[in-house]
Amino acid sequence: MTQAMPSKVWTAHLLTLFPEMFPGALGHSLAGRGLKKQLWSLDCHNIRDFATDKHANVDAPPFGGGHGMVMRPDVIGRAIEHVQDSLPDSHNIALVYPSPRGRLLDQKMARQLSRKDGVVIVCGRYEGLDQRAIEHYQLEEVSIGDYVLSGGEQAAMVILDTVVRLLPGVMGKEIGHLEDSFETGLLEHHHYTQPRDWKGLEPPEILLSGHHQNIAKWRAENAAEITASRRPDLMAAYMAKKHLKTEDKD
Ligand code: ADE
Repeated sequence: MTQAMPSKVWTAHLLTLFPEMFPGALGHSLAGRGLKKQLWSLDCHNIRDFATDKHANVDAPPFGGGHGMVMRPDVIGRAIEHVQDSLPDSHNIALVYPSPRGRLLDQKMARQLSRKDGVVIVCGRYEGLDQRAIEHYQLEEVSIGDYVLSGGEQAAMVILDTVVRLLPGVMGKEIGHLEDSFETGLLEHHHYTQPRDWKGLEPPEILLSGHHQNIAKWRAENAAEITASRRPDLMAAYMAKKHLKTEDKD
């Protein structure tokens, strides 16, 4: 089990039946370097440690019958309260429960989470959590997409990856993420690099011109074309926002 940092570093408190899954992918590359540099921290707890019966049961069959098992609210409750009690101030900490029934994760949510002091993520397994625990602790259900994973851990990793890369100092080039897909509202333009001739294929001539203004214009047009053809929903939202902004100016 890792310990929470004493200073006010953005912390992910994870409640899971599989603490050995962490940091996993988050221990590598950008997020991993940030973790090593203590730009964020990970505080993992095994939910089973909060079971009280002799078999350390964390789940039970659903009331009303049916398949699968449901995670017990008393066990989850003790785990959540243990984490909350360990914090000097739990008010600016988000409480997240990854679930396919939740609000869809997007860049806006990642940014909102990055502005908090941290997050408690309750990773469900089996059929999920008893509804009373979700309501009592006002857990925010967050989905990473319209498909079903076998547990909340994989979703927690995706959520955390989107957030920690936004924390100050994690991205080498601070402005890098401002150009990312979804930060501008458009998908990113195409990228090209060495070699200049690969299998007889050349990058667009303009990118070799050294003319920064023309390159920026080409990239903006390319981003708009890609967004319009691949994600008309995003393009419509972008155009509506742009329209509002010009109306504000008038
Ligand atoms: N748990 C299972 N499926 C999930 C999903 N799509 N998003 C978040 N958590 C999940």
